[in-house]
Amino acid sequence: MKQTGFSSELFRGQTIVVTGAGRGIGFCVANAFAEHGASVIVHSGRSRSAEKFADTGIEAIEADFTKGAETQGFIDTVLSKTRSIDVLVNNAGTMHGRFPAGDLTDAQYDDLVTLNQTSVVMVCRGLLPKLRSAENASIINTVSISARTGGSPGSSIYSATKAFVATYTKALARELAPQGIRANAVSPGTIDTDFHSRYSSQEKLENTRKSIPLQRLGTPEDCAPAYLFLASNALSGYITGQVLEINGGQLML
Ligand SMILES: NC(=O)c1ccc[n+]([C@@H]2O[C@H](COP(=O)([O-])OP(=O)(O)OC[C@H]3O[C@@H](n4cnc5c(N)ncnc54)[C@H](OP(=O)(O)O)[C@@H]3O)[C@@H](O)[C@H]2O)c1
Repeated sequence: MKQTGFSSELFRGQTIVVTGAGRGIGFCVANAFAEHGASVIVHSGRSRSAEKFADTGIEAIEADFTKGAETQGFIDTVLSKTRSIDVLVNNAGTMHGRFPAGDLTDAQYDDLVTLNQTSVVMVCRGLLPKLRSAENASIINTVSISARTGGSPGSSIYSATKAFVATYTKALARELAPQGIRANAVSPGTIDTDFHSRYSSQEKLENTRKSIPLQRLGTPEDCAPAYLFLASNALSGYITGQVLEINGGQLML
């Protein structure tokens, strides 16, 4: 399946790591990089989705990022597999459920923060030596429109973790610029993936759709080109510390 409608050699010879790539946006992004010549290492998520990549030459590694030991295991596996990393895409994340502020349990809070926030910090820290070994490396973190809007009811901690990652991305961009590493974020709006089939009713999605200037929900294929753009030094070599909003006009800044 074509993810971007065309193929190229833009990332030929480059090693790209994508987390949360067993489905949804990450799956599309990982395949799009492969379509454009990259050698891709994916973190597929918790589920056994490695078989999805069986025919593609993409290597899939499973790990539950709510568990620090499994996140560290993923990092160690990647470190053992490659000499350098040109692009790291931190995309694994979810909402886990809708938790009203007064009902949120400690366990729900911990899981959300550990997955959406701590795992991004761990993976960046752990893979940084391999990014330093590449020329013009780049980090791209998936955040969310909710980092700016606060999201919808029951998503306060999820939204706050995405705001953390947006700010962390800017801080990384400043700190790593002298080392030739760029850091940017992609911020999806309402993208039609399993994410929303779990956490949003059809009625809520239809109301959202009507409020979007482009009058449709987004797709993973709408998002993937933004990652390719931010990953390519040829296309975006002077862009760092930015959050690219992909939302059909749902939020205009
Ligand atoms: N869809 C949207 O409208 C939207 C909007 C803004 C931001 N985002 C963000 O975009 C990213 C991708 O979302 P998506 O829409 O593609 O959702 P998705 O289809 O649910 O995919 C999420 C990915 O993250 C992985 N993941 C979830 N929980 C995990 C855990 N505990 N450990 C390791 N991996 C885990 C999933 O793997 P398994 O579940 O198989 O473990 C899957 O590969 C997420 O960071 C999400 O927050 C999405």
